[in-house]
Amino acid sequence: MDLKGKVAAVTGGGSGIGEAIACRLAKAGARVSLLDINQQAMDAAADKIAQRTGSEPLTCRVDVRCSKQVNEAMDTTVAQMGGLDILVTAAGIAGDTPFLEIDEETWDRVIDINLKGTYLPAQAAAQHMIKAQRGGRIITIASINSFWANREFSYCASKGGVVMITRSMAVELGPFGITANAICPGVIETPLNMPIPAEKREYYISRMSVNRIGTPEDVAGLALYVASDESAYMTGSLLVIDGGLSIQ
Ligand SMILES: NC(=O)c1ccc[n+]([C@@H]2O[C@H](COP(=O)([O-])OP(=O)(O)OC[C@H]3O[C@@H](n4cnc5c(N)ncnc54)[C@H](O)[C@@H]3O)[C@@H](O)[C@H]2O)c1
Repeated sequence: MDLKGKVAAVTGGGSGIGEAIACRLAKAGARVSLLDINQQAMDAAADKIAQRTGSEPLTCRVDVRCSKQVNEAMDTTVAQMGGLDILVTAAGIAGDTPFLEIDEETWDRVIDINLKGTYLPAQAAAQHMIKAQRGGRIITIASINSFWANREFSYCASKGGVVMITRSMAVELGPFGITANAICPGVIETPLNMPIPAEKREYYISRMSVNRIGTPEDVAGLALYVASDESAYMTGSLLVIDGGLSIQ
Protein backbone atom coordinates (compact mmCIF):
# COMPACT_ATOMS: atom_id res chain seq x y z
CA MET A 1 0.00 0.00 0.00
CA ASP A 2 1.70 3.05 -1.33
CA LEU A 3 1.02 6.49 0.17
CA LYS A 4 3.64 8.41 -1.82
CA GLY A 5 2.50 11.97 -2.46
CA LYS A 6 -0.05 11.84 0.39
CA VAL A 7 -0.03 14.02 3.48
CA ALA A 8 -1.28 12.66 6.81
CA ALA A 9 -2.03 14.54 10.03
CA VAL A 10 -2.12 12.45 13.21
CA THR A 11 -3.47 13.81 16.49
CA GLY A 12 -1.93 12.13 19.51
CA GLY A 13 1.05 11.44 17.25
CA GLY A 14 3.48 11.91 20.14
CA SER A 15 2.83 8.54 21.75
CA GLY A 16 1.41 5.04 21.58
CA ILE A 17 -1.10 4.26 18.84
CA GLY A 18 -0.85 7.68 17.14
CA GLU A 19 2.94 7.49 16.97
CA ALA A 20 2.88 3.94 15.56
CA ILE A 21 0.30 4.92 12.94
CA ALA A 22 2.29 8.02 11.93
CA CYS A 23 5.39 5.86 11.55
CA ARG A 24 3.54 3.22 9.48
CA LEU A 25 2.05 5.86 7.17
CA ALA A 26 5.47 7.50 6.77
CA LYS A 27 7.02 4.10 5.96
CA ALA A 28 4.42 3.76 3.19
CA GLY A 29 5.59 7.09 1.74
CA ALA A 30 3.24 9.66 3.32
CA ARG A 31 4.53 12.92 4.71
CA VAL A 32 3.26 13.18 8.27
CA SER A 33 2.33 15.98 10.60
CA LEU A 34 2.10 15.18 14.31
CA LEU A 35 -0.43 17.13 16.38
CA ASP A 36 -0.09 16.67 20.13
CA ILE A 37 -0.24 18.63 23.38
CA ASN A 38 3.08 17.17 24.54
CA GLN A 39 5.90 18.81 22.55
CA GLN A 40 8.64 16.74 24.18
CA ALA A 41 6.91 13.46 23.34
CA MET A 42 6.25 14.68 19.81
CA ASP A 43 9.89 15.64 19.27
CA ALA A 44 11.00 12.18 20.43
CA ALA A 45 8.39 10.52 18.17
CA ALA A 46 9.44 12.68 15.21
CA ASP A 47 13.10 11.65 15.74
CA LYS A 48 12.17 7.97 15.83
CA ILE A 49 10.04 8.27 12.70
CA ALA A 50 12.83 10.14 10.91
CA GLN A 51 15.35 7.42 11.85
CA ARG A 52 13.03 4.60 10.76
CA THR A 53 11.67 6.11 7.56
CA GLY A 54 14.03 8.86 6.45
CA SER A 55 11.16 11.38 6.36
CA GLU A 56 10.94 14.50 8.50
CA PRO A 57 7.61 14.79 10.33
CA LEU A 58 6.21 18.23 11.08
CA THR A 59 5.22 18.77 14.72
CA CYS A 60 2.40 21.08 15.80
CA ARG A 61 1.72 21.60 19.49
CA VAL A 62 -2.03 21.65 19.90
CA ASP A 63 -4.71 21.00 22.48
CA VAL A 64 -7.39 19.15 20.52
CA ARG A 65 -10.08 20.80 22.70
CA CYS A 66 -9.27 24.23 21.28
CA SER A 67 -10.67 25.06 17.82
CA LYS A 68 -8.27 27.98 17.30
CA GLN A 69 -5.20 25.81 17.94
CA VAL A 70 -6.60 22.94 15.87
CA ASN A 71 -7.41 25.19 12.89
CA GLU A 72 -3.96 26.81 13.04
CA ALA A 73 -2.23 23.41 13.17
CA MET A 74 -4.24 22.15 10.22
CA ASP A 75 -3.49 25.35 8.23
CA THR A 76 0.22 24.99 9.04
CA THR A 77 0.16 21.34 7.93
CA VAL A 78 -1.52 22.20 4.63
CA ALA A 79 0.80 25.16 3.99
CA GLN A 80 4.04 23.35 4.85
CA MET A 81 3.22 19.90 3.46
CA GLY A 82 1.29 21.00 0.38
CA GLY A 83 -2.14 19.58 1.26
CA LEU A 84 -3.92 17.09 3.47
CA ASP A 85 -5.19 13.66 2.41
CA ILE A 86 -5.44 11.64 5.61
CA LEU A 87 -6.43 12.55 9.17
CA VAL A 88 -6.05 10.15 12.08
CA THR A 89 -7.52 11.26 15.40
CA ALA A 90 -5.65 9.32 18.08
CA ALA A 91 -5.35 11.94 20.84
CA GLY A 92 -7.21 10.70 23.88
CA ILE A 93 -7.16 9.98 27.57
CA ALA A 94 -8.42 7.20 29.82
CA GLY A 95 -11.37 7.74 32.14
CA ASP A 96 -11.98 4.94 34.59
CA THR A 97 -14.32 6.51 37.15
CA PRO A 98 -17.58 4.56 37.50
CA PHE A 99 -21.02 6.11 37.04
CA LEU A 100 -21.96 6.45 40.74
CA GLU A 101 -18.67 8.17 41.58
CA ILE A 102 -17.93 10.40 38.62
CA ASP A 103 -18.05 14.18 39.04
CA GLU A 104 -18.90 16.76 36.43
CA GLU A 105 -15.33 17.97 36.03
CA THR A 106 -14.01 14.47 35.21
CA TRP A 107 -16.90 13.86 32.79
CA ASP A 108 -16.25 17.17 30.99
CA ARG A 109 -12.50 16.52 30.66
CA VAL A 110 -12.89 13.04 29.16
CA ILE A 111 -15.71 14.07 26.80
CA ASP A 112 -13.86 17.23 25.76
CA ILE A 113 -10.58 15.51 24.89
CA ASN A 114 -11.93 12.26 23.44
CA LEU A 115 -15.10 13.43 21.68
CA LYS A 116 -14.80 17.17 21.01
CA GLY A 117 -11.09 16.49 20.38
CA THR A 118 -12.16 14.19 17.54
CA TYR A 119 -14.81 16.47 16.05
CA LEU A 120 -12.66 19.63 15.87
CA PRO A 121 -9.68 18.17 13.95
CA ALA A 122 -12.02 16.17 11.71
CA GLN A 123 -14.02 19.27 10.79
CA ALA A 124 -10.89 21.34 10.11
CA ALA A 125 -9.39 18.54 8.00
CA ALA A 126 -12.60 17.91 6.05
CA GLN A 127 -12.87 21.58 5.17
CA HIS A 128 -9.37 21.50 3.66
CA MET A 129 -10.07 18.22 1.85
CA ILE A 130 -13.30 19.57 0.34
CA LYS A 131 -11.60 22.79 -0.78
CA ALA A 132 -8.71 20.91 -2.42
CA GLN A 133 -11.16 18.51 -4.15
CA ARG A 134 -8.86 15.53 -3.88
CA GLY A 135 -10.93 13.33 -1.57
CA GLY A 136 -9.59 12.07 1.70
CA ARG A 137 -9.58 9.63 4.58
CA ILE A 138 -10.68 10.39 8.11
CA ILE A 139 -9.76 7.65 10.57
CA THR A 140 -10.93 8.02 14.14
CA ILE A 141 -9.60 5.93 17.00
CA ALA A 142 -12.56 4.81 19.06
CA SER A 143 -12.39 1.67 21.25
CA ILE A 144 -14.16 -1.60 21.90
CA ASN A 145 -15.73 0.45 24.70
CA SER A 146 -17.74 2.12 21.95
CA PHE A 147 -20.04 -0.92 22.14
CA TRP A 148 -18.66 -3.16 24.94
CA ALA A 149 -19.59 -1.64 28.27
CA ASN A 150 -17.58 -1.62 31.45
CA ARG A 151 -17.40 0.69 34.49
CA GLU A 152 -15.31 3.35 32.72
CA PHE A 153 -18.37 5.55 32.43
CA SER A 154 -17.18 8.71 30.68
CA TYR A 155 -14.71 6.77 28.51
CA CYS A 156 -17.49 4.48 27.23
CA ALA A 157 -19.67 7.54 26.54
CA SER A 158 -16.89 9.37 24.72
CA LYS A 159 -15.95 6.37 22.54
CA GLY A 160 -19.57 5.52 21.74
CA GLY A 161 -19.84 9.13 20.61
CA VAL A 162 -16.69 8.86 18.49
CA VAL A 163 -18.22 5.99 16.51
CA MET A 164 -21.47 7.83 15.90
CA ILE A 165 -19.84 11.12 14.87
CA THR A 166 -17.61 9.13 12.51
CA ARG A 167 -20.66 7.51 10.92
CA SER A 168 -22.44 10.86 10.71
CA MET A 169 -19.35 12.38 9.03
CA ALA A 170 -19.33 9.46 6.59
CA VAL A 171 -22.90 10.30 5.53
CA GLU A 172 -22.08 13.95 4.92
CA LEU A 173 -18.59 13.58 3.41
CA GLY A 174 -19.24 10.73 0.97
CA PRO A 175 -20.27 13.04 -1.89
CA PHE A 176 -16.88 14.79 -1.58
CA GLY A 177 -14.95 11.53 -1.97
CA ILE A 178 -13.99 11.51 1.69
CA THR A 179 -14.41 8.34 3.75
CA ALA A 180 -14.67 8.26 7.55
CA ASN A 181 -14.09 5.07 9.53
CA ALA A 182 -13.62 4.28 13.21
CA ILE A 183 -10.96 1.87 14.43
CA CYS A 184 -11.92 0.18 17.70
CA PRO A 185 -8.87 -1.27 19.45
CA GLY A 186 -9.11 -3.59 22.43
CA VAL A 187 -6.32 -3.58 25.02
CA ILE A 188 -3.14 -2.20 23.50
CA GLU A 189 0.08 -1.78 25.44
CA THR A 190 0.79 1.99 25.47
CA PRO A 191 1.53 4.67 28.08
CA LEU A 192 -2.25 5.24 28.36
CA ASN A 193 -2.84 1.99 30.22
CA MET A 194 0.62 1.08 31.53
CA PRO A 195 1.33 -0.70 33.70
CA ILE A 196 -1.59 -3.09 33.32
CA PRO A 197 -1.89 -4.78 36.75
CA ALA A 198 -0.90 -8.47 36.57
CA GLU A 199 -4.36 -9.70 37.57
CA LYS A 200 -6.11 -7.59 34.92
CA ARG A 201 -3.57 -8.63 32.28
CA GLU A 202 -4.24 -12.31 33.01
CA TYR A 203 -7.98 -11.73 32.82
CA TYR A 204 -7.76 -9.94 29.45
CA ILE A 205 -5.41 -12.52 27.96
CA SER A 206 -7.68 -15.34 29.12
CA ARG A 207 -10.51 -13.77 27.10
CA MET A 208 -8.42 -13.00 24.01
CA SER A 209 -8.53 -15.60 21.26
CA VAL A 210 -5.03 -14.65 20.07
CA ASN A 211 -3.68 -14.94 23.60
CA ARG A 212 -1.73 -11.71 23.92
CA ILE A 213 -2.15 -8.00 24.59
CA GLY A 214 -2.11 -5.89 21.39
CA THR A 215 0.68 -3.62 20.24
CA PRO A 216 0.39 -0.15 18.67
CA GLU A 217 1.85 -1.72 15.51
CA ASP A 218 -1.11 -4.12 15.32
CA VAL A 219 -3.39 -1.09 15.08
CA ALA A 220 -1.04 0.74 12.69
CA GLY A 221 -1.30 -2.07 10.10
CA LEU A 222 -5.09 -1.67 10.00
CA ALA A 223 -4.81 2.13 9.84
CA LEU A 224 -2.51 1.83 6.82
CA TYR A 225 -5.15 -0.18 4.97
CA VAL A 226 -7.88 2.33 5.86
CA ALA A 227 -5.65 5.22 4.79
CA SER A 228 -4.86 3.62 1.44
CA ASP A 229 -6.73 3.55 -1.86
CA GLU A 230 -7.53 -0.13 -1.16
CA SER A 231 -10.26 0.91 1.31
CA ALA A 232 -12.10 3.17 -1.14
CA TYR A 233 -15.45 1.36 -0.82
CA MET A 234 -15.49 1.31 2.98
CA THR A 235 -16.99 4.19 4.93
CA GLY A 236 -18.89 4.63 8.20
CA SER A 237 -17.40 1.34 9.39
CA LEU A 238 -16.46 0.31 12.86
CA LEU A 239 -13.30 -1.78 12.63
CA VAL A 240 -12.64 -3.92 15.68
CA ILE A 241 -9.05 -4.96 16.39
CA ASP A 242 -8.95 -6.61 19.80
CA GLY A 243 -7.49 -10.11 19.50
CA GLY A 244 -10.99 -11.45 20.02
CA LEU A 245 -11.52 -9.82 23.43
CA SER A 246 -15.05 -8.59 22.74
CA ILE A 247 -16.42 -11.59 20.81
CA GLN A 248 -17.49 -13.60 23.83
N1 LIG B 1 -4.15 1.77 24.61
C1 LIG B 1 -5.31 1.14 24.51
O1 LIG B 1 -5.51 0.03 25.06
C2 LIG B 1 -6.44 1.75 23.73
C3 LIG B 1 -7.55 0.96 23.44
C4 LIG B 1 -8.60 1.50 22.72
C5 LIG B 1 -8.54 2.80 22.30
N2 LIG B 1 -7.46 3.56 22.60
C6 LIG B 1 -7.46 4.95 22.14
O2 LIG B 1 -6.35 5.17 21.31
C7 LIG B 1 -6.00 6.55 21.37
C8 LIG B 1 -4.50 6.65 21.63
O3 LIG B 1 -4.24 6.10 22.90
P1 LIG B 1 -2.83 5.52 23.33
O4 LIG B 1 -3.09 4.26 24.02
O5 LIG B 1 -1.89 5.58 22.20
O6 LIG B 1 -2.45 6.59 24.47
P2 LIG B 1 -1.14 7.47 24.69
O7 LIG B 1 -1.32 8.06 26.04
O8 LIG B 1 0.08 6.66 24.43
O9 LIG B 1 -1.25 8.59 23.57
C9 LIG B 1 -2.23 9.58 23.61
C10 LIG B 1 -1.64 10.87 23.07
O10 LIG B 1 -2.67 11.86 23.08
C11 LIG B 1 -2.09 13.09 23.50
N3 LIG B 1 -3.10 13.96 24.07
C12 LIG B 1 -3.79 13.80 25.23
N4 LIG B 1 -4.59 14.85 25.46
C13 LIG B 1 -4.42 15.70 24.41
C14 LIG B 1 -4.97 16.96 24.07
N5 LIG B 1 -5.86 17.58 24.86
N6 LIG B 1 -4.58 17.54 22.91
C15 LIG B 1 -3.66 16.93 22.11
N7 LIG B 1 -3.09 15.76 22.40
C16 LIG B 1 -3.47 15.13 23.52
C17 LIG B 1 -1.06 12.68 24.54
O11 LIG B 1 -0.08 13.71 24.75
C18 LIG B 1 -0.49 11.42 23.93
O12 LIG B 1 0.64 11.70 23.12
C19 LIG B 1 -6.85 7.16 22.48
O13 LIG B 1 -7.95 7.82 21.91
C20 LIG B 1 -7.32 5.95 23.26
O14 LIG B 1 -8.56 6.18 23.90
C21 LIG B 1 -6.40 3.06 23.30
